[in-house]
Parts: sequence; C-alpha cells; structure tokens
Amino acid sequence: MKKLVGFIVFTGGLISCVTAQQSSTLKGKYKPYFKIGTSVNSAQIEGGDTKGRLLITKQCNTITPENVLKWQLVQPEATKYDFKLPDQYVALGEKDSMFVVGHTLVWHSQLASYVESITDPNQMEKAMQEHIKTVMGRYKGRIKGWDVVNEALNEDGTLRESVFYKVMGPDYIKKAFRFAHETDPACELYYNDYNIELKEKRQGALKIIKDLKAEGIRIDGVGIQGHWNLQWPSIEEIEQSIIDYASAGVKVMITELDITVLPNPWDLKGADVNQNFEGSPFMNPYPNALPDSVDVLLAKRYEDIFKVFLKHQDKVDRVTFWGLQDGDSWLNGWPIKGRTNYPLLFDRNYRPKKAYQTLLNLSKK
Ligand code: XIL
Repeated sequence: MKKLVGFIVFTGGLISCVTAQQSSTLKGKYKPYFKIGTSVNSAQIEGGDTKGRLLITKQCNTITPENVLKWQLVQPEATKYDFKLPDQYVALGEKDSMFVVGHTLVWHSQLASYVESITDPNQMEKAMQEHIKTVMGRYKGRIKGWDVVNEALNEDGTLRESVFYKVMGPDYIKKAFRFAHETDPACELYYNDYNIELKEKRQGALKIIKDLKAEGIRIDGVGIQGHWNLQWPSIEEIEQSIIDYASAGVKVMITELDITVLPNPWDLKGADVNQNFEGSPFMNPYPNALPDSVDVLLAKRYEDIFKVFLKHQDKVDRVTFWGLQDGDSWLNGWPIKGRTNYPLLFDRNYRPKKAYQTLLNLSKK
C-alpha cells in the first residue's frame, strides 16, 4: 500500500513536471494547437541582437523575414540579386528546426524600381516568373511556405490597381501562384493581406481563394495580417473570418500580429505602409513607459483574441507576431515616425509583459 501511494505521488510529480515544462514557453504551450512565430529583422539574422536570437529560439517554432526577402532588397535590379541576409535567415530557421516562411513574392510595396517602370504585359510576366523562380527556387524544400501575393485588395474587396494589375490584368494573381507551384511543388502557398477579417474585404479574399481553386491552382492558406488595436476589429469579425476562410478550404494564419496602444490618426485602420502622418505629443502619449493600466488592457485584448484562436484551433495553423520585443516594432515608425509603441509581448529589455503571462496561462475552455 505504501508503495502504491509512493507511485501515485511520483506519477503526479512527473505529470506536473511535464505540464510545467510545456507551459513555460509560448511554442510549448501552443504546440498542440498552432505554430507560434515572429518576424525577424536584420540584427537578429546577422546575430548582432544576441538576446533577441535566444528569445526567438526559446519561444518560437516558426519565423518570417520582416524585410530581407522583399523584392526591393533581394532583387534590386533585373540582373542583381542579394542573397546574403536571406541565406542567413533560412539557415537560422533550419538550425532550430523551425518552420521557415517566405515573405513575400508579389507585392506593390517595397518593390524594385525596375519593375515599376515595366509597361509591357509579357515583359512583366517574365519579370515575375524570373523573380519567383530565382528567389523561391534558391530555397526550394527549405522555405516551407510562401506569401505568394501580398495585399492585392482594396478595402471594398475589389482588386487593387497595383502595377501588376495595371500591366497584366487581374490574372496576375493566378500566374503568380502557378509560377510558385511550378518552382517548388511541395511548398505551401498563401495569400496574405490586412483587414481581410472585415466583411467587405473578406469577400474579395474569398473570391481570390475560390477562383484559384476553381482552376485547380494550389493555394494552401490565407494570412490575416492582424495589425490591430485595443478595440478594433471586433472578436466577432475575427471569428467569422476564421470560419469563412476555413470553409473555403484553406488554412488560416495570423501572420503579422501586433496591437497598437497609441492614438490612431484619422481613425486609420489597416497597414498601408505608404501612409504617414505628422507627429505630436498627443499622438505619442507614453514616450517613457507604458502605464500599468494600458498594459492591463493590452493583456486583456491579447487574451480575448487568443481565446478565439484556441476555440478554432482546428482551423488556425499559425500565429506570427510582427516583431519580438516592443523596440523592434515597425509601429514605432508607422504611421507616424518617432513614436514609442508597446504592441508586442516582450518589453524593450526582452522581459515578458503581462500579455505574455496571460497567454501562457490561458486555458483552452
Ligand atoms: C513592414 C516592416 O515591418 C517595416 O520594417 C518596413 O519598413 C515596411 O514594411 N504588411 C506587410 C509587412 O506585409 O511586410 C509590412 O512590414 C507591414 C505591413
């Protein structure tokens, strides 16, 4: 009898030990449900940010390059490629067996200027094919999923008149996905955009997915960027979009999650990187520290959002934060330059914020 009691106690000890270990990091905690990732910047890729590197390895099982694989940087000229940082990026992910994402092949922003001056449809198609074959082809079998087309939609769900649309017409999307599939048939292919959790724009994204599928063209997932704020969008909109996209037969990914805590100029919503506004003290209310009350609101907002991700964990494949710690965030410079924002789970000293603890302790029900 004594022995039996000892055994039970011992087993209990073992179980609690395993549970504690699984819950001591984000990737461990969410492993049964979905991948957890972050975007990585040049300092993290090159190794200058050693603290950042360690934290990424500890907390994440997937990474996305914040900038280094964008057209402007990886192929600044028709005959000039720069693979130095992209090569290091992919090696970084492989070293820790992470799911390595490619971002992004066809996008109107951060585009090389030689592409912007092309006016002939055949020439544009060739440039696109060449770009996809060369960049994606270099990492064939190593980058496991690519954002093939980024931000092709207007807010009303119609197609944005990007340079690709203007020169090649609406079929440029199908062509991009075809070229990508030909280049690496095993790679997952995604459509990625902001605000596609909102009803009108969501219809546009659903149409892209359905049109591709109708022609038998591979598309595996949709990336909802997730540049959100403390109130917007509603949990209902987020939930409905997860349901709608899953019903259209694709994996749902939250690909660029961050939650601004600063005032929004002109009630701006979204993530158009070309928008910029004048700064003022009113627009930058926390230059020195995040007030505790706002830290609490941020934690609550992350909790509400992750509750809905957990509820639909069968549909959600990955949640990637757009930056590791607050100091890294692009939201310190967009849409107003020189502000101090606090949108992520770790503070500028790489210390976990309240939101981190909340997500670590969240129960599934
Ligand atoms: C941002 C980067 O974070 C910045 O460093 C860069 O200056 C501009 O782009 N949607 C996207 C991302 O798909 O690539 C953007 O990243 C943010 C909005």
